[in-house]
Amino acid sequence: GSLQMYVDALPQMPKIQGYGSQGNQVVAVNLTIGMFQKNWKFHRDLPATPVFVYGQCQDTATFPGPTILARHDVPLFVTWENHLPAAHILPWDPTVPTAIPNNGGVPTVVHLHGSAHPPQSDGSAFAWFTADFRERGPAWTQTTYRYPNVQPPGNLWYHDHALGLTRANLLAGLLGAYLIEKPEVDTPMDLPCDDDDLHLIIADRSFNVDGSLYMNSTGVAPSIHPQWQPEYFGEAITVNGKAWPFLAVHRRRYRLRILNASNARYFNVSLSNGLPIHVVGSDASYLSAPVTVSNLLIAPAEIFDVVVDFSQSPTAEIEMLNSAPYPFPTGTAPGPLNGKVMKFVVTPNGPRDPPDNSTVPDHEVPYASVTALPPTTTTRYIVMYEYLTPSGQSTHLYINGLRLEDPVTETPKSGTTELWQVINLTGDNHPLHIHLGMFQAVKMQQLIDLQTFTDCMTAVNDAVKCNVDQHAVGPIVPVPDHEKTWKNVVKVPPGFVTSVVVAFKLVDTNQTYPFDTTAEPGYVYHCHVSAMSPATLLYILYPISYWL
Ligand code: C2O
Repeated sequence: GSLQMYVDALPQMPKIQGYGSQGNQVVAVNLTIGMFQKNWKFHRDLPATPVFVYGQCQDTATFPGPTILARHDVPLFVTWENHLPAAHILPWDPTVPTAIPNNGGVPTVVHLHGSAHPPQSDGSAFAWFTADFRERGPAWTQTTYRYPNVQPPGNLWYHDHALGLTRANLLAGLLGAYLIEKPEVDTPMDLPCDDDDLHLIIADRSFNVDGSLYMNSTGVAPSIHPQWQPEYFGEAITVNGKAWPFLAVHRRRYRLRILNASNARYFNVSLSNGLPIHVVGSDASYLSAPVTVSNLLIAPAEIFDVVVDFSQSPTAEIEMLNSAPYPFPTGTAPGPLNGKVMKFVVTPNGPRDPPDNSTVPDHEVPYASVTALPPTTTTRYIVMYEYLTPSGQSTHLYINGLRLEDPVTETPKSGTTELWQVINLTGDNHPLHIHLGMFQAVKMQQLIDLQTFTDCMTAVNDAVKCNVDQHAVGPIVPVPDHEKTWKNVVKVPPGFVTSVVVAFKLVDTNQTYPFDTTAEPGYVYHCHVSAMSPATLLYILYPISYWL
């Protein structure tokens, strides 16, 4: 049977302040955040679910984890501690490259997604560790991570990144939101704040009748990988750890920071009464000006920062709907369950409600436009493949035909801008995520004669030799206005060349990175489906194969 919708109130996760104060100075702090197994109630009528979650202690740990509030230019130190048990709560597959400790335990490592930080604090898939740091991966260097927070203000998130286990560790609950705030930039915009500034962290999950998380453990290529599934789709849609919750709102504006933390499901969200959505930011950046849309397509790991004015609601109840097929874009259309996300219940304003002084500002942050950047000096071709066995089983996911374990391929220089031509030869849209670099799509152009090009790539593995320019002459799809900013995830459509400008430099200051980006273990880029196929790295780049 299915669970009744809209019976649990939407919670907000606990907040942790990632800075301290000394007199009127804001100062750096050290936090300790643990990973714990505990039971979590996803729904009134569902037995409690064993999960792996982040928190300052087991008692306060939540699904998703606490929201960390960091301050621009104030470094934050975090010691991530693994308190997980000997065995995983979900199935995992040892036949894909995987962190496998000798003495049990759950390998974990934390990546702060969207952040510019030293490579030793990046959460390399090979820098994993088990409980009490008993066993450590080959790239492990330190217990305490440093996040400089030198980038512009925006929305980030942290999540597990362990080799071969990222899928299972995220599914179990190892994820949370992280904000970089810069009052000089944030405050003058008068966006809704305090109780009117909320997170919506969306994640699809399926449950067994005993409440436990359900994950299909029959591999797509069972003779090769008995359990590995490249994608996960859950029937229930959870927001902030509740299945189809409701939120009581007043007739005023709300800021909603929407993160799709699903492993593979895209969401195309809209509001059932047609209420407009004003997008003010995406991923770790504001837009230069708000863009009003009626629906938002959100890839896994992508974030949209929006304002909804509930004072304009013509109805008392509003459902948030989802219309994205899974896999996206050509899979199954969502049904009555996964086609719904949550409900807003508009309550009339009372005499004691404070007036709404928030705005949707006319202008936001004027980031240097792509054309104002240093001219691109390097063009790279990034080709996403799915390798099939003769019987059509998908067994490998490659970028440029390389595996994560292969030698580093990309070594961009700090202060430069590059043009990446991302060619998607798979049948699905892929959310491209690049660690460290900020990037934006400038053009999406369809490949013609795709089969000839794909056959050539399979044989020769060289986009230039396969005459990519003669194939990239199909229709051009414009980049939506609300995605024209510095992104951490860009949606790469199948059968297209997506032109992406990558800046290896902070965009609102003249600073270059205040750390040695060339140090081991470097950075990766990858598709974020199934919470990643770690791809290739930057500076010291590992290429990729499997989805972690
Ligand atoms: Cu959001 Cu490499 O990850």
